[in-house]
Amino acid sequence: MSTKKSDVFLSKTENKGILGEFIESNITRRLIPKGLSWFGCMGGLSLLAFMIQLVTGIFLMFYFVPGEDEAIASIQRVSHSVPYGWIIQRIHAVGPHIMIGLVFSHMLRILFKGIYRHPRELHWVSGACLLILTLLMYYTGMLLPFRNTNEHGNMPLTYLYAIHVAGIPLAMSLFMGMHFFMIRKTGIYEPL
Ligand code: HEM
Repeated sequence: MSTKKSDVFLSKTENKGILGEFIESNITRRLIPKGLSWFGCMGGLSLLAFMIQLVTGIFLMFYFVPGEDEAIASIQRVSHSVPYGWIIQRIHAVGPHIMIGLVFSHMLRILFKGIYRHPRELHWVSGACLLILTLLMYYTGMLLPFRNTNEHGNMPLTYLYAIHVAGIPLAMSLFMGMHFFMIRKTGIYEPL
């Protein structure tokens, strides 16, 4: 007995399982439209940049010591003595500049195309919070290797470190959750 093409397709789809179906309907079957410009990719690229910062940051946390004298020394130890530490440290230090550029380009596209209008007001508000948090992340991270307490505005280095590695990333995750939930609800302006 010969097998029909439709039978083969059916048995393939039946064996996908919940995870396979989830991946298909959310990732592999979502095609990028032909006319999508580079500016249309800036939101996704901002997310990618955030994830790279997260992974490299977790790696650096194993070595960074938030002490007045130890901070610079511990960064130097990662860069010079830990295998591949130099490249992780460099990516984490250069990444924010790229991420800020990506987030601004994303925002400018939304602004100039008027995408912030109803029903996307909350996308814009959560996005604006994400922009402020991205800049705060940059600012607190930049102060970490400083030696003098005055350069932290008299804030102990341990507080600054806690804000940089826990407070702001947690707030960012919350606002990103809101951002993506809203995008899921309305669908995006130029559908993927
Ligand atoms: C860490 C920062 C951010 C990340 C990771 C992020 C990520 C994304 C992603 C992945 C999308 C869906 C695809 C797209 O349209 O590009 C999106 C859409 C959107 N974002 Fe952001 N975004 C960020 C910041 C911002 C900022 C600063 C604003 C404006 C103040 C903003 C406003 C919007 C709006 C209005 C949409 C809906 C666009 C549409 O419906 O097509 N986002 N964002």
